[in-house]
Amino acid sequence: MRRRDFLTTATAAAGLMHGQQTANARVEVLVNEPIGRIAPEIYGHFVEHLGGVVYDGVWVGVESKIPNVGGLRKQLIDAFAKIKPGVVRWPGGCFADSYNWRDGIGPRNTRPKRANFWAGSNEWPEGAPKDGPTRYDPNWFGTVEFLRFAKAVGAKPYLAANVRSLTARDFYEWVDYCNAPAGTTTLAEQREAHGAKEPFNVEYWGVGNESWGCGGSFNPEEYLVEYRRFSEWVPKFGLPLKYIGSGPNSGDLSWTRRFFDKLSQKGGFGGMWGWGLHHYSWNVSGGRTTDWVAGKGAAIGYPENEWYELLSDADKMEHLITANWAIMGEFDKQHRVKLAVDEWGAWFRPGSSVASTHLLGQQSTMRDAVLAGMTLDTFHRHADKVAMANIAQLVNCLQALFFAHEDKFATTPTYHVFDMYAAHQGKQSLRTMVACDDLRFDRHGKQASLRGLSASASMEEKTLILTITNPDPKAAREVDVQFRGAAGIGSQQVSVLEAGGDIQAHNTFAAPNRVVVKSGATAAINGSTLRYRAPAASVSKFEVTLA
Ligand code: AHR
Repeated sequence: MRRRDFLTTATAAAGLMHGQQTANARVEVLVNEPIGRIAPEIYGHFVEHLGGVVYDGVWVGVESKIPNVGGLRKQLIDAFAKIKPGVVRWPGGCFADSYNWRDGIGPRNTRPKRANFWAGSNEWPEGAPKDGPTRYDPNWFGTVEFLRFAKAVGAKPYLAANVRSLTARDFYEWVDYCNAPAGTTTLAEQREAHGAKEPFNVEYWGVGNESWGCGGSFNPEEYLVEYRRFSEWVPKFGLPLKYIGSGPNSGDLSWTRRFFDKLSQKGGFGGMWGWGLHHYSWNVSGGRTTDWVAGKGAAIGYPENEWYELLSDADKMEHLITANWAIMGEFDKQHRVKLAVDEWGAWFRPGSSVASTHLLGQQSTMRDAVLAGMTLDTFHRHADKVAMANIAQLVNCLQALFFAHEDKFATTPTYHVFDMYAAHQGKQSLRTMVACDDLRFDRHGKQASLRGLSASASMEEKTLILTITNPDPKAAREVDVQFRGAAGIGSQQVSVLEAGGDIQAHNTFAAPNRVVVKSGATAAINGSTLRYRAPAASVSKFEVTLA
């Protein structure tokens, strides 16, 4: 269907009455226009040795009274496995480029203690202790512990290699330690002595992280030399190693252009599987500021205009995907290299973490849930381009899905979005178009806008999953959803995450169920059209059986 036809139909639909209410938005799902399979890896996560992510979050230790599986927090494993994580990235982030994997193998009591990359950060919460495992890493959680964690939650592992401060040979040997068949190499024997006889068969390998910044401060041409050095002639042990190159910082398209230009000059794409893109969303109090820490917005108790500002910053994702993709396509005409958005999420100023050891810990409200819904919808609409994405980070850090401190544990609204959306995984994404007025807001004295509604759909056989996010903090949307190409609708189940329009709503250890998914909402069916009232500030999921 041409866009103009859709918009004409949509405008006509705005005048249609179902009962008493007029629709003020229209979603069309084109059942016969598949875009691509939604890779489970889009439902990827990120675990870095940063603040309370590993120590307190994932790792409690084998001696702990907190229920654990070989030292790994059991409550986390159970809740995390439930949302079917496609992949987990480790050990960083910036930490990765200062990490020596050899520090984290062998008997735990013999492992060295090292200053953590983040020890001297200026974003530590007030009252944070000056020592302890978050500042001086005892390396209790290393390669084998991480790979066991990934296995326990059913996710593929994604390891990020240190390009800034180790050599290519160290990288080859890490691959060897993880992947060499039992008994074949000295490193495989060492792995066996460390309790892991069988290889872990790690396929995803990041070649550096933010190589334009903490990963070496390279320029694209310099990074290309490192990329080649690290990715050529790596022992493969029969596996299809999938390298992820360190892509741009948000909108820095020249990084992508300069890198791909040089990469393609020698022919081939250096075995690259994915191009990493990082995009964090922020508020900037009073316009652009040089104060990196205090200049960001608050996670909670924020003014309403920061709701819009943050979501519109997050919504740049669509442009970042299409713009990078277009540039990559100039050099890689067949698009052999896909996008891996291996860090995304909201980043607020310090002050709302659940413990003082949780560097970059922040509360997570309905605003974060809406951000997650919109972003995942965007990934689905570009399922032909985005092969992996990793929200930052899993627990106790940035846009976390979990809070864990000592024996306390809670899930965030973002967790519930991942839970609802997991049904999209592996299905064919369908072209989905939305007609809806933009939301207008004041951004530091200037008129700005945010999309009025977000949606995406996927299908497998007759089951169709549709997700709709209403980013309007004040008003519900009356939405007509048309399944174009379908004979009719057999049945539908609706679940919704909303908090009665309370945009500050969040979960805490004391009130862990303030924001949870509710089922039982309904949508009126009329032929192949659904009429649904999307509550203000909400994320909804429909499971529809097409007739
Ligand atoms: O996720 C926190 C940090 O943000 C990561 O370590 C780094 O890659 C990014 O700048």
